[in-house]
Amino acid sequence: MLGAVISRGLYSLIVILLSVDLLPCLCADGEQINPLVLEELLLWVGGGAGSVNTYRIPLLTFTRHGSLLAFSEARKQSEVDIGAKFIAMRRSTDKGATWAPTSFIVDDGSLADGLNLGSVVIDEETGSVLLIYSLCFHRYHCSPSSTMLVESLDDGLSWSAPRNLSVMLGVKSFAPGPGFGIQKRIPPAVGRLVVCGHGSIAGDGVFCILSDDHGLSWRYGAALKSIPYNQPKQSLDFNPDECQPVEMEDGSIVVNVRNNNNYHCRCRIVVRSLDGGESLPVDELVFDHTLVDPAVAAGALQKEGILFFTNPSNEQHRVNLTLRWSLTDGQSWEKKAVQIWAGPSGYSSMTSFRSDSPVDKKFIYVIYEKGHKDYDESISFVKVHLYGGR
Ligand SMILES: *[C@@H]1O[C@H](CO)[C@@H](O)[C@H](O)[C@H]1NC(C)=O
Ligand SMILES: *[C@@H]1O[C@H](CO)[C@@H](O)[C@H](O)[C@H]1NC(C)=O
Repeated sequence: MLGAVISRGLYSLIVILLSVDLLPCLCADGEQINPLVLEELLLWVGGGAGSVNTYRIPLLTFTRHGSLLAFSEARKQSEVDIGAKFIAMRRSTDKGATWAPTSFIVDDGSLADGLNLGSVVIDEETGSVLLIYSLCFHRYHCSPSSTMLVESLDDGLSWSAPRNLSVMLGVKSFAPGPGFGIQKRIPPAVGRLVVCGHGSIAGDGVFCILSDDHGLSWRYGAALKSIPYNQPKQSLDFNPDECQPVEMEDGSIVVNVRNNNNYHCRCRIVVRSLDGGESLPVDELVFDHTLVDPAVAAGALQKEGILFFTNPSNEQHRVNLTLRWSLTDGQSWEKKAVQIWAGPSGYSSMTSFRSDSPVDKKFIYVIYEKGHKDYDESISFVKVHLYGGR
């Protein structure tokens, strides 16, 4: 009798524990990840008379203080990769609900082969926002190619004059990102800034530049070269190209890479650095057959142990912008995927705000190229609730 009472008491206690403690834990586990697009907003639309012809190459980041900054290339005269451009920026201080008008923070004038974005990286220790881009990447009617940096010390409100990193790095063509760079939070190399990008068409491959002094000085670290290196490529050659690095919870850096010439598959190359961006060994390289891809710049993000990925999920065409997630550090992907836009869609990038607030744990933010006829008609911002809106 007494035993029965005790076990009934224990039973209620377990029920209470289950309902109060365990269920929220399941959410944090990722078991109940159920992404829902809550809001979508076009940040830039090209093509108006007398205005910028085309906006492309979207980047997105939170500052240390929680402001959202969106960047893009404002291509002045045409949609092509070469030509004169501005760097366009919009800033939101309410997590993307409202945005200040566009400011043009860099103007390359009227260059035949102007600037190309780019990687944005936040130094969490100094609060500085660093934006790295290339000038004369294609060496079309210009020489040499330069790697440039502008910096904001006031949360994205004002920007420094461009600094020429090629004085330290040399004049090899280097196109950062496009996407974000990382600051190492977990050993090895805590505090290091790591920006990965790709080389010129012949000398292509993934290259990372590193700074151990908050962006003052930079040097080349890891390289994953194309084959044949520094020679014209054919279809199906090994040609790793635009890329997005993310830091994993074990301190390794996973770089998700555009497989430009469809070597081995029409899918993503994934390569891991175990030494803080000093090397990208071939032993750590896999082809992720689940991540089918038309050869494009894609988005990747690691949040609370869950890896997210966005791209136009189609082997042939830039359509079908899709969000995927992995509970196994990219070893496998959940079957369920969320289609963000069925139509034409191109480059994408993601961010989220790291804080102790439970609200910030629920959201990730996506920026991508979106159109009805062509993927480069506009740049769209999307707020995603990770737990179905709850
Ligand atoms: C950047 O520095 C390199 C190396 O000194 C130089 O060759 C190049 O012309 C510079 N670029 C610009 C835009 O000043
Ligand atoms: C869109 O992506 C999903 C997930 O990869 C895939 O199942 C579907 O076939 C794709 N649709 C198109 C039209 O590419």
